[in-house]
Amino acid sequence: MRYAISYVSSAKNNISEKEVEEILDSAEEYNNTGDITGLLLFSEGNFFQVIEGEEKKVRELFEDIKNDERHTNIIKLFEKPIHKPAFDGYRSDYVTENTKFNSAKLRDYHRHVEVLDTKTQQAVENVLRAFIY
Ligand SMILES: Cc1cc2nc3c(=O)[nH]c(=O)nc-3n(C[C@H](O)[C@H](O)[C@H](O)COP(=O)(O)O)c2cc1C
Repeated sequence: MRYAISYVSSAKNNISEKEVEEILDSAEEYNNTGDITGLLLFSEGNFFQVIEGEEKKVRELFEDIKNDERHTNIIKLFEKPIHKPAFDGYRSDYVTENTKFNSAKLRDYHRHVEVLDTKTQQAVENVLRAFIY
């Protein structure tokens, strides 16, 4: 059984585009080689992340992420075992005006969210709506 944690956070003040790109790229690289699946989005100063994988690994990664000074105000959305992985790899995206209207990407996010239970699905949908629409 896999385990998932999801949260939203605020980037530190004055974070540069380059720093954000570094966070997104290194998360994608590390997670894809370390069997962590999920999603990391950045939009207008906020992060939204889902990390999914072996329980111990996910908990340890979340501890590291919480201690990272490049973001603050970390609010956990859910933390739970999941019966079926919602994501098949690790994706990260810098959400801009262009991605806001990329319907293929939106459909892709929704396809993943459909795997979650109804209550969690609703919570994630609400956050995605705030992030993307
Ligand atoms: C918003 C945010 C999300 C992050 N997500 C991940 C992630 O999914 N995977 C990862 O390996 N590091 C992620 N990091 C980086 C980690 O906080 C940390 O720098 C990294 O795990 C390296 O830790 P280490 O220096 O202790 O090896 C993230 C950082 C931030 C600010």
